[in-house]
Amino acid sequence: MAFVTVAQLSLLLPGKGTCVEANGKKLALFLANGKAYAIDEECPHRQAPLHEGECVGLEVVCPWHASFFSLETGDHRNPPATTGVRAYRTRIVGEEVQVEV
Ligand code: FES
Repeated sequence: MAFVTVAQLSLLLPGKGTCVEANGKKLALFLANGKAYAIDEECPHRQAPLHEGECVGLEVVCPWHASFFSLETGDHRNPPATTGVRAYRTRIVGEEVQVEV
């Protein structure tokens, strides 16, 4: 595993998700509280694009059926999703947002 640059910090808006790709994986990237968070892009329920979900604190709401997922751990909070998603380590190096994949 290695850190991969996936975005420029200045292009991310707080609370708004961005779909990025790293090593062939699609990830939903969020900036919240000045920190970057990356989770799997596809909701485990019906594969909704999680980057389109609304960010509420440190959770994202699936845009299709409103399951909440933790940006920190990927854990799901409520049905209809029955499992969480993977959360990835991130770091900000200068202007670069990097994800460990
Ligand atoms: S697709 Fe996400 S909760 Fe249904």
